[in-house]
Amino acid sequence: MVAEGKYEKLQDLAKRRGLFWGSYEIYGGVGGFMDIGPLGVKLKHNIEEAWRDFFIRRQGLFEIETPMTAPKCVFEASGHLESFKDPMVQCKACGRRFRADHIVKESLEITGTEAERLSLQELERAISERKIACPECGGELMKPTLFLTMFQTTIGPYSEAIGYLRPEAAQGMFTSFKRVYEQARGKLPIGIAQIGRVARNEISPRQGLIRLREFTIMEFEFFFDPEDPSCPFLPEVYDETLNLITEPLRLKGSEEPIELSVREILEKGLVKVEWLAYFMALAKRFLSKLGIPGESQRFIEKLPWERAHYSAQGFDQEVYLDRFGWVEVSGHNYRTDYDLRRHMEFSGQDMRVFKAYERPKMVDALTLKIDKANLGRSFKGHAPLIASKLETMDPEVVKRGFEEVGYIDVEGFRILPEHVQIIHESRVEGGRRFIPHVVEPSFGCERLLYATLEYAYTEREGRVILRLPKDLAPIEIAVFPLMTKDSLCERAQKIYHWLLEKGFRVEYDETGSIGRRYVRADEMGIPLAATIDYQTLEDGTVTLRDRDTWRQVRVRMEAMEDRIRRYLEGNLSFEELGRPIEKS
Ligand code: ATP
Ligand code: GLY
Repeated sequence: MVAEGKYEKLQDLAKRRGLFWGSYEIYGGVGGFMDIGPLGVKLKHNIEEAWRDFFIRRQGLFEIETPMTAPKCVFEASGHLESFKDPMVQCKACGRRFRADHIVKESLEITGTEAERLSLQELERAISERKIACPECGGELMKPTLFLTMFQTTIGPYSEAIGYLRPEAAQGMFTSFKRVYEQARGKLPIGIAQIGRVARNEISPRQGLIRLREFTIMEFEFFFDPEDPSCPFLPEVYDETLNLITEPLRLKGSEEPIELSVREILEKGLVKVEWLAYFMALAKRFLSKLGIPGESQRFIEKLPWERAHYSAQGFDQEVYLDRFGWVEVSGHNYRTDYDLRRHMEFSGQDMRVFKAYERPKMVDALTLKIDKANLGRSFKGHAPLIASKLETMDPEVVKRGFEEVGYIDVEGFRILPEHVQIIHESRVEGGRRFIPHVVEPSFGCERLLYATLEYAYTEREGRVILRLPKDLAPIEIAVFPLMTKDSLCERAQKIYHWLLEKGFRVEYDETGSIGRRYVRADEMGIPLAATIDYQTLEDGTVTLRDRDTWRQVRVRMEAMEDRIRRYLEGNLSFEELGRPIEKS
């Protein structure tokens, strides 16, 4: 018999205790969709709140909420329509579809991510030369194609109004950047954060909470001046060490991390932007708060072909999981000015910010000189609109477009150098206009939920104890009457309501024997159980039991609120809660 791993045990526990299960089970389930149960939702909210506190509150970020659905133009501008695609291959016999690169990787036992690098033609060649067959039925495979992993919809009853569900929360933060920037009174750096649902039409998700088609992302875009990229808070994390697998190491074939302090990482120039390194260090600390120790975390630099289209440098924060090995839980990317620049090009709106010089100075600047006659000849009645859009465009952006592809796109028209000249001139300026650069930490909430549960999962004497960090526990205190007689329930109910009033997360349970209730509480990760017994009726003391050690103390009601609070905050040991009781 194959020994059950933590993954299988957790799936069992998850169903038994209401953490999570497959969605639409009564219809046989749908891959990539999971329901989070009552206990799981509480834990997920606590993770979100911990993230909110750790990043949004402490780093002074601006949280916003933007829609899940966006019109096509947003994803044309962001580059997702062109790039958010995975290679897919279909079986001729059974019709099943798979990630083509995954199939090739598994069949040829390719290590690392070399398979991701293969073009469609190379994948096709590998499949036919190596006679790779359908992993499910052994049937012949068709030619691989690219599959857009965004869900498409229509906005309103108009088939032409195509929209997509967002695969990342980021774009809403870029499209609303200027509004939030105004709220921040026009100062950089600023961070805009969002916690929200995203959807990705993954080709064949088979890893439970790890690979979903709909999940919650917690991410922020941190905007800074590329000419002033220093992070003043670095000293706080200089000595924090990260297990890092750099691009050069990976290109040499090593996946062995090196442990370096943030100071060393920056001195060696391994991370391009200070803010990126700073947030990576915070990400490590955040995961430690979730109970995932530093030695079970690492940061792996993305190789050029693995990086998202917008990323100039990217690191995945990975956690070691029992069944899957190293799994990405957060991505840290240097997005440069890519997104704002593209939105500026596609919308014609000025996404630049203005930064005043201390004193006006003479500068060499670029300006655009529109050749209206030529524009008129080429675009007739559309020319005035194109001219007005061109007037708001950043000459640097136009210059880059001409240099890179020979034209720029304005309102769907191809504008050539003959329509607009770029002129160098010297003039006095009071400040600079520029597009801010961005670093982005992005965390998948369900992957963190799963990792938190796996690291909390322990067994003692054949019983499960979910040793969740106390401040994350979905329920902090379970209140139990010892037995359901002699007004014990009445007293226990009173204490339960009193604890609720005091703001604790409490549960009341009188079903089954006290032993079974302790087992249930341990499995639910409840740090403290308060038992109301005959002595409570006599002297007002209550038994408190520690989830992790099963030790018990007696505490007086008057002292309970303050002591429990300090205990849950980690400022009081269990022994300090009350008078020890010898275990009966
Ligand atoms: P992967 O390589 O595993 O597909 P990714 O590189 O596409 O992930 P990102 O685009 O960086 O992931 O997304 C940010 C975060 O969102 C990831 O670090 C991960 O925690 C989470 N995430 C991404 N895809 C999924 C998914 N299908 N299901 C659940 N969480 C996901
Ligand atoms: N916003 C990062 C990502 O989801 O790809």
